Amino acid sequence: MRKTTSWIAGITVIAVVLATIVFLSAPANADSAAAEATYKAKCAGCHGPDGRGETATGKMMKVKDFSSEEVQKMSDADLFAAISSGKGKMPPYKTLSADQAKDLVAFIRAFEKKK
Ligand code: HEC
Repeated sequence: MRKTTSWIAGITVIAVVLATIVFLSAPANADSAAAEATYKAKCAGCHGPDGRGETATGKMMKVKDFSSEEVQKMSDADLFAAISSGKGKMPPYKTLSADQAKDLVAFIRAFEKKK
């Protein structure tokens, strides 16, 4: 009886550890972290680390504040198109995959809450 109980406890511990590993490596977490890294590397120079576009280049190019209503009322498709195909003085980012561009759209949406 005792032996069976500790055997079950052992299996339970292993199952919990495995479940935790799977949970922590879930794509949702990885993607937003990747989007943040991409944003910092490729976008923050113009759009600013906080999305407000208050960098020297951002001011020169008159980029819009990502947390503004003007940008937030644009559709996901419009934001996606600006990222993958470019818009005005913004260069197209053809090296980004569709998934990466989608994650960046979600990242830009999150600026609204940080107002
Ligand atoms: C060289 C400066 C520059 C860089 C780098 C840049 N952008 Fe832009 N971006 C602009 C400009 C300028 C506009 C405004 C274009 C217009 O309205 O004519 C713009 C517009 C946008 C828009 C559409 C919303 C709006 O304000 O019209 C999105 C979305 C966007 N950028 C996302 C990004 C993302 C994501 C990256 C990084 C992958 C990035 N940008 C990198 C300059 C830049």
